[in-house]
Amino acid sequence: MTETAAVLLADVARRAKDVPSRYIRPPSSRPNLADVDASGTATIPLVDLLDLSGPGRAAVVQAIGSACRGHGFFQVVNHGIPDDVITSMLRVAKEFFRQPESERLKMYSDDPSRTTRLSTSFNARTEEVGSWRDFLRLHCFPLEDYLHEWPANPPAFREAVAEYAVNARRLALRLLGAISESLGLETDWLVAALGKQAQHMAVNYYPPCPEPELTYGLPGHKDPNAITLLLQDGVPGLQVLGQNGRWIAVDPVPGNLVINIGDQIQVLSNDRYKSVLHRVVVNNSTDRISVPTFYCPSPEAVIRPAPALVDEEQPAAYLEFTYGEYYDEFWNRGLQRESCLDMFRVANLKLCPE
Ligand code: OGA
Ligand code: NI
Repeated sequence: MTETAAVLLADVARRAKDVPSRYIRPPSSRPNLADVDASGTATIPLVDLLDLSGPGRAAVVQAIGSACRGHGFFQVVNHGIPDDVITSMLRVAKEFFRQPESERLKMYSDDPSRTTRLSTSFNARTEEVGSWRDFLRLHCFPLEDYLHEWPANPPAFREAVAEYAVNARRLALRLLGAISESLGLETDWLVAALGKQAQHMAVNYYPPCPEPELTYGLPGHKDPNAITLLLQDGVPGLQVLGQNGRWIAVDPVPGNLVINIGDQIQVLSNDRYKSVLHRVVVNNSTDRISVPTFYCPSPEAVIRPAPALVDEEQPAAYLEFTYGEYYDEFWNRGLQRESCLDMFRVANLKLCPE
């Protein structure tokens, strides 16, 4: 008797002894897991946010600025999101993905324009090779516009995720204020540049993989949004491309969040701060949950380098675009090493024949 092919990876992975061919990368683009700097040999900066709202603010702002300039990635402690909010978020995420296939499939869609959906890989409609991941995507701001679309099961899901999303938004706004100041801009400048703002969440589920050296949870990519706040369970998987061109494994520290600059802050900062390549590898023993919060401009926001950061020596590196245009481009091209940023660069546009 033949079984119907499973739609979600979790249900494929449960039965697979080998990695199915549609997930196998060509030899030249496999992760090469032995050639990665383990944490301890290299790492991303750790920033303590305790003094961000006190007399020590200037020093914290400076530490954030230096992390954004040098690494594009940093971890934060004392970020203000209570432990129980984090624990509940991770608990309902795990419970969601442990539900029977029939319950999970109620949320399934491969249409990236849907505001709430469960899907698999990255863009199942367009890509040639799959990624070893299922993911639930939710819009989180304004909360009341989307809450009713979210999964009704497990029963604690909506309340726990809403509580986390409100806290994550508060933290994103504090970080954007600090990043603005670190660029020499008014505290509110970046938030104002994002227009009405949007907040998306992914709940990523990476099942154990029988042959982790053949595939990725997510291949190398840069995040298209403004800033990302990543919550992870205790299982490693995230790797960040260091300045020396080597991959750094970021070991999750329970309770800490990993923050990274997305493409929009690279543009708004006129390349002062970099959106950095990162990827997710999988392992053969443990499933992994991660919860990135993508803080974004609203689709109609016009994005261009901050006028205060443009002068004769550093002319505008990008032409203006709307975030909606950028985001469509991101989903359509799929995850690949060349980021979409280059499409909007002044230098590249000049090379194009009229
Ligand atoms: C992402 C991402 C990292 C992770 O979803 O864009 O980079 O650890 N996730 O899941
Ligand atoms: Ni990412």
